[in-house]
Amino acid sequence: MLDWLFAKKTNKDVHLDHIGIDIHSHVLPGIDDGVATIEESVAMAKKMESLGFKKIITTPHVMWDCYRNTPEIILGKLQEVRSALRSEGVNVVIDAAAEYFIDEHFNEMLTTGQQLLTLPGNRLLVELPYSTPLLNTSENLFAIIQHRYQPVLAHPERYTYFFSNPSIYKTLVDQGCELQVNILSLSGHYGENVRKMAEWLLKNNLITFIGTDAHKIQHLEMIQKSDKQNWITKYPFQNEKLINI
Ligand SMILES: [Fe+2]
Repeated sequence: MLDWLFAKKTNKDVHLDHIGIDIHSHVLPGIDDGVATIEESVAMAKKMESLGFKKIITTPHVMWDCYRNTPEIILGKLQEVRSALRSEGVNVVIDAAAEYFIDEHFNEMLTTGQQLLTLPGNRLLVELPYSTPLLNTSENLFAIIQHRYQPVLAHPERYTYFFSNPSIYKTLVDQGCELQVNILSLSGHYGENVRKMAEWLLKNNLITFIGTDAHKIQHLEMIQKSDKQNWITKYPFQNEKLINI
């Protein structure tokens, strides 16, 4: 009879308060393939707060063929979202960095010392193409280190061209790259092969951070139901250490 009273404690929904901070999402409106409106941004932030996040560092795509986002554009949108959250009484802290696609423009910004938006600890979240590998992935990531940034490779488990030679992941980690797994990869959202690779990377201690990579509210709803095999609580993700940097 009192089931409703205990529903929050007895259901199987994942709660992410021990993760504390999300370092990968697309919740600034209208600047990439994430949310389109400020109302959606507010709804996403509310949902992330209810999942247990204390802080969101959102990471719009910077991909010069599609999303020409500059620090000014990103930080301007961040201010709009912050003031909307204040008026709605949403308490989760929101900050912004970016998810940089490694292309010619990125390399130019890196080598000419232009402003790049970073995660705490001078970390740069970067992504690779999904279909065709870069000729020189390892060199590109090492160039980031040489320019005194800490590279964090987004969703390594989604680059299926690495699957025939997964030793590349260890090479990247050994040369100083941190890897960030997507929560939805662990639940099989991107397919069984991606799920298995995410699991393999975790079992081999190659993952440092976990992220939502949420583009829409449905992603967060899926995440809410996602921890079927306790992957999220089983491994020592280091997100929390970024909260107070
Ligand atoms: Fe992303």
